[in-house]
Amino acid sequence: MPHPAALPHDPDPTTAELVAARPHLSMHAMDGLLMDGVPLNAVADQVGTPTWVLSAGSIRGRLQALQAAFASAGLPARVHYAVKANDHLAVLRIMAQGGAGADVVSGGELQRARLGGIAPEHIVFSGVGKAEWELRLALEAGVGQINVESAEELAMLSGIAAGMGCVARVALRINPDVDAGTHAKITTGRADNKFGVAYDSAAALYAHADGLPGIEPVGLALHIGSQILSMTPYRAAYARAAELVRDLRAAGQIVRMVDCGGGLGIGYRDEPAATPAAFAGAIRATLGGMGLELAVEPGRWLVGSAGLLLASVVLVKATGNRRFVVLDAAMNDLLRPAMYDAWHGVVPLSAVDAVQPTSPADIVGPVCESGDTFARGRALPALARNARLAILDAGAYGSVMSSTYNARPLAAEVLVDGNRWSVIRARQPMEALWAGETVPDWLG
Ligand code: LLP
Repeated sequence: MPHPAALPHDPDPTTAELVAARPHLSMHAMDGLLMDGVPLNAVADQVGTPTWVLSAGSIRGRLQALQAAFASAGLPARVHYAVKANDHLAVLRIMAQGGAGADVVSGGELQRARLGGIAPEHIVFSGVGKAEWELRLALEAGVGQINVESAEELAMLSGIAAGMGCVARVALRINPDVDAGTHAKITTGRADNKFGVAYDSAAALYAHADGLPGIEPVGLALHIGSQILSMTPYRAAYARAAELVRDLRAAGQIVRMVDCGGGLGIGYRDEPAATPAAFAGAIRATLGGMGLELAVEPGRWLVGSAGLLLASVVLVKATGNRRFVVLDAAMNDLLRPAMYDAWHGVVPLSAVDAVQPTSPADIVGPVCESGDTFARGRALPALARNARLAILDAGAYGSVMSSTYNARPLAAEVLVDGNRWSVIRARQPMEALWAGETVPDWLG
């Protein structure tokens, strides 16, 4: 079922409205679309397209806003950035400098977080299937916490930690059986999702963990899904966590902390975006006043709106009654529309294009699948060959989900900071696509 935000309803926001709603973007009469102080046409001239562009200032501002919301709610909550949203080392450096820790879900993300400068004690290792080598790596690194999702994983971790002569600080991830009201593919807190320990068996497993060698249970974790715009499911899930904390404490267990997960949504179209103040309020109303240390692990909210994908028009073709604008970016770059029917704003880079009369256009990539469609029926001006467009809000789950499908090299990445900008990942050279491949001699 498509996400409600993907269903046709009110007219789409205009280019002017999309730009006005994003403080790091502006339209300059001569230079066209700017990110902070940088004309995006200058970036495209020098680096080509498709290219991801990220605003450092936007990421810093969002992190500060989140931290400030928790501080003003009087909640001692640490922010552990969910590395999966955008794992570039420069992004991780910005997070480290801003005082964020990291939530990682693989050995690779753990290494990245450390290379980005995040101290191991501020790293939480989450995930439903951590391999033995990954648990070992996490313990060797001295990560602050491991979120355990099953009895089987707990037994595995106990064996590894005891064998290494160390103690793993463990939070038990519970499955609160709450529907987050988001797209089915990114809902994680329902009983039929693979994540977490069933709510009803969590108390017994926590008590069991307490007796295991190499394990120190410190609290609970939960994460009910992603792109969540209503506080109702959060409140329901956190209320269940609070109830479990009270039960565990009544049974004599020590519960020091609750990891409240991430999932805070952003406004891609014109949805009322979730606010950090509302998020902090939902946590305070349910888990406040219990003497708990608290942590959150947002990804999308911190980096999603900070990034965009620059693309150029390869050609425009009319087929049947539709106008297809074919870009040089495709689903292998930004997968979200194909995968989740996600709506992303598409705006021209040229200030002249931006004010021309519009007509409906389907914005597509060149990949040989009809799902390679960024937007349908979008009100856009006549666009000539080589005209440039920006696909908005692509900072989270954009470059990290890219592939080289159709033998398309990974796009370049650029970081903007005020008036400065740098290439932070070169466009992948074509030869890199086959560099790791060998053809066996015996094939002749
Ligand atoms: N913590 C855990 C345990 C998670 O699984 C996730 C995301 C997060 C935190 C961060 O969630 P966020 O704050 O970013 O919503 N590729 C999808 C989103 C997948 C989210 C997976 N888990 C998309 O493009 O919408």
